[in-house]
Amino acid sequence: MKFFIDTANLQQIREAHELGILDGVTTNPSLMAKEGISGKDRVLKHYVDICEIVDNGDVSAEVIATDLDGIIREGEELASLHPNIVVKVPMIKEGLKAIRYFSDKGIRTNCTLIFSAGQALLAAKAGAGYVSPFVGRLDDVSTDGLQLIEQIRLIYDNYGYDTEILAASIRHPMHIVNCAEIGADVVTAPLSAITALLNHPLTDNGLSQFLADHRKSTELAK
Ligand code: G3P
Repeated sequence: MKFFIDTANLQQIREAHELGILDGVTTNPSLMAKEGISGKDRVLKHYVDICEIVDNGDVSAEVIATDLDGIIREGEELASLHPNIVVKVPMIKEGLKAIRYFSDKGIRTNCTLIFSAGQALLAAKAGAGYVSPFVGRLDDVSTDGLQLIEQIRLIYDNYGYDTEILAASIRHPMHIVNCAEIGADVVTAPLSAITALLNHPLTDNGLSQFLADHRKSTELAK
C-alpha cells in the first residue's frame, strides 16, 4: 500500500519524506489556505516546492474551477508545473467530462469528493488514475467509510479497473491499518496518524529494559 501525506505543510512533508516511507502528497484548497498560501503565483510555486521535496512521488493539486473549460485550463496549467503533478478534480458532471479529456491527453487525475460506489464507478469509467473516497467524513455522518472502500475494491476487481483507490479523510492510525486490510491502493493521512503507527508501549518498555540491562552489565564488568 502506498502512503501519501495529506497536507500542504512543507515541514511536515519533509518530516514524512525523511521517514523513508512517503510515496506522495495530496493537497486541497482548504489545506493550502491553512498554510496561508494564496494568489495564483504563490499557489503554483508551492506545488513546485512540494514536488521538489518528494521527487519521486505523485502530488495531487486541486482545480478550483467548476466549469469544463475552467477545469481544463487550470488542470493543464497544474500538470505543466512538474511531471509528478496529478490533477485533482471534483466528482461533478463537468469534472467527469474533464477527467475523460485529461485521460485522453495522458494527464493524470485524482477524482476527489467521492462518497458513493456509483461515483467511484463513474470516475473509473472516465479514466481517473485515482479516486479519493473520504472515509472520515462518512464516519462523521454515521456512515461506515471503510465499507465504501470495500465496495469500491470489489467493483474495481470485478472489472479489472486500474484506477487506484486512494483512501482520504483519514483521521487515525486504525483507519490506515483497516484500509490496508481491505486493500486500498493508497492511504493519504495527516502526519500525526502516520507517526502514531510507530508507537507501542511494549516497544518503549522493552527498549528501556534492554538499555537498563546493558548499563547494569557494563557497570558490573568495570
Ligand atoms: O484531501 C481530502 C481529504 O483527505 C480531506 O480530509 O480531514 O478534511 O475530511 P478531511
